[in-house]
Amino acid sequence: MRKLSNLAIVFCGAVAMLVFSGVSSAEETVTANVANGKNIFENGKADAGVPACSTCHGEKAMGMDAMGSPRLANVGYAYIVKQLTDYADGKRNDLTMQQMNGIAKALSVQDRRDLAAYENSFPRNDEPSDLKSLKAEGKAVGDTALGQALVRYGDKGRVSACMSCHGFNGRGADPMYPKIAQQKYVYLVNQLTHWRDSSRANDPMSQMQKIAKTLTDADINNAAAFLSQASDSTPGDGMEIDNQTTMKNVKIVK
Ligand code: HEC
Ligand code: HEC
Repeated sequence: MRKLSNLAIVFCGAVAMLVFSGVSSAEETVTANVANGKNIFENGKADAGVPACSTCHGEKAMGMDAMGSPRLANVGYAYIVKQLTDYADGKRNDLTMQQMNGIAKALSVQDRRDLAAYENSFPRNDEPSDLKSLKAEGKAVGDTALGQALVRYGDKGRVSACMSCHGFNGRGADPMYPKIAQQKYVYLVNQLTHWRDSSRANDPMSQMQKIAKTLTDADINNAAAFLSQASDSTPGDGMEIDNQTTMKNVKIVK
């Protein structure tokens, strides 16, 4: 089982290199300015009408269930640049607050890199969704144990294991597969629902749309419940995924 999923990750990685060669290839080195990213994240850009990212994503970029906003911290540099570009180009539509398209458009290409570098610079931080209070508010909350089984093993003949692309517990496999471990519950449910009805369709080779169409509502809630709590490393497993692969081509200026 473990061997198989490792192979799958190697294969997915090879595909990822092809698709992402346009973002930053071995020859092309881009510069990303963490200080500029931090400044925009905390203060916005008044002249361009960009609000501070922290108002909706939280000061530590951990996301907020109350707003349906995602965690951005350490999700992956290449993935964040891609999403900001997709929002700006209208390939992905913000179906929640209807604000990300306008915000991304108002950012320069350089700003997007700077913001992604800043968001990838946080120390590891845990802030799982508060499933108890979401339940108390009347939200449908799934079962973490069933979600864990689906993320790790899938459901034979019906659903592929999330882990085969997103890595152990969904900790991410840079550059194509974002970290979905400890992503916020409400955001996870929204995205899986949007992939399923193709209202979000910016995934390379429709990978997520295909997977999501195999999921029931219960599968979505269960996977999201587990992922929102999932630790992205296990003591002693020797792997610390830091989503820094593509950062090697990015010259960081602090
Ligand atoms: C008004 C609230 C608000 C503000 C301000 C805001 N965001 Fe967002 N952001 C959201 C919401 C809500 C979503 C989820 C939208 C969706 O479902 O597509 C989101 C999604 C994103 C995503 C997609 C992440 C992923 O995991 O795919 C990125 C990247 C992002 N925002 C970056 C930023 C940056 C950078 C700024 C500041 C320049 C910013 N946001 C400001 C509310 C906000
Ligand atoms: C065949 C590979 C593959 C498998 C298997 C897979 N995913 Fe994905 N997933 C992707 C790719 C690629 C993306 C990034 C799409 C993009 O670039 O916008 C993604 C993105 C996501 C996102 C969006 C994250 C964000 O921050 O917006 C969620 C949520 C997600 N996957 C959940 C899952 C779940 C849950 C499963 C298992 C039921 C799963 N995925 C299985 C390839 C896969």
